[in-house]
Amino acid sequence: MTAIDHVPQYLAGGHAALTRDEAMAIMDRLVEHLRNGTTDQAAAPLEIPISYYLDPEQWQREVTEVFYKIPLPVCTSAEVAQVGDYKALRVVGKEIILVRGRDGHLRAMLNVCRHRAMKLVPEGCGNSRRGFVCQYHAWSYDHEGRLTGVPGEDTFGEFEKDDYGLVRLACEERAGIVYVCLTPGREMDIDAWLGPVLPYLEALELDKCTHFVTKELPGPNWKVTLDGYLESYHFGALHPNTVALTNHANRATNDRFGPHVRNVFALRTLDAMMDKPREEWDPAVAMGLVYWIFPGMSIAGGMRERTVISIMLPGDSWGESMTWQTTLLRTPPQTEEQMTEAEKTAEWFFAAFRDEDYTAQTDVQNGLQSIPDKHMIIGRNEIAVQYAHDTLARLLDGRPVHGERTI
Ligand code: FES
Ligand SMILES: [Fe+2]
Repeated sequence: MTAIDHVPQYLAGGHAALTRDEAMAIMDRLVEHLRNGTTDQAAAPLEIPISYYLDPEQWQREVTEVFYKIPLPVCTSAEVAQVGDYKALRVVGKEIILVRGRDGHLRAMLNVCRHRAMKLVPEGCGNSRRGFVCQYHAWSYDHEGRLTGVPGEDTFGEFEKDDYGLVRLACEERAGIVYVCLTPGREMDIDAWLGPVLPYLEALELDKCTHFVTKELPGPNWKVTLDGYLESYHFGALHPNTVALTNHANRATNDRFGPHVRNVFALRTLDAMMDKPREEWDPAVAMGLVYWIFPGMSIAGGMRERTVISIMLPGDSWGESMTWQTTLLRTPPQTEEQMTEAEKTAEWFFAAFRDEDYTAQTDVQNGLQSIPDKHMIIGRNEIAVQYAHDTLARLLDGRPVHGERTI
């Protein structure tokens, strides 16, 4: 369990991520759940064969039919905010690089030199004024991926340089998040994909926030890891000294927007607030607002000063995932004290994920391998877990994802 030397402050920013009416409607549902000992539920428990998690062929289908086709959230715009900023990362077995050009546009390319396929830029973030130079034979490329320099060109022989630019990927930014399609040449309709959740993401104003920190966390199978993000049922048992100090377990609302969901967890501050007049209710400090954008991004924070964005994607094989956890701030720290507080809070969140969630999920993966012919069962109270697997099944079967807003 995480050593607790710091309880995070939920700084209410009073930010209008929801209208007062929308927020109050959710508050009413949470209060009802607290008074009655209830939570939003699915129609029935869902049994899932363990092989669904373990089967490498199933995993490969998920990668090729889903992860290589849909718009994938891969980082925050704030990480690559300035001209020349780049981020190189490995996602779902592909080397990619995002770079902001002089025109302000962010472009995504495969991070692979076209001479003899060396990884062009080491993983990580940076700023490059002119472009990139391969460390193998020093071929150079500009921000748009054009091949601009071939050392010893007169000895190399003639070839069409325009054919040997970096391989481009479709890339779009919406509401402060960067989406990429991992299949070269494949377009994506990001507005249609986000659909009814987009106005809510825009209201978060993540594009106006400042990047504070991004931490990386390797984990087990992406579906095992995903399940842990989508329910509060585990808060009391797994997080008694961290998350459960501030959040109620198993008291949550769930709303659905096409493939995406919004989970709102009842915070402990609601206990006292709900007995006060409604005008005095402050949703910013009583609701744990979390958007889940299929298939791998959680945006937690909503109306508060700080937002924690976790982007979790499959790794190179069925048993691996990688998470990038980014803290964005609405107001950059002004004093040393504020800076220290923000650092401690970011570390506190990260440590809770690493030492509690991801440790448990690694144990789950080991457990699954011991009972490969059995089923697991997802409760009615784990409604968002059920919904995510239903969405995945629809995509794999070629059926439409849930189109309409279901609240
Ligand atoms: S592989 Fe990049 S320059 Fe040769
Ligand atoms: Fe958790």
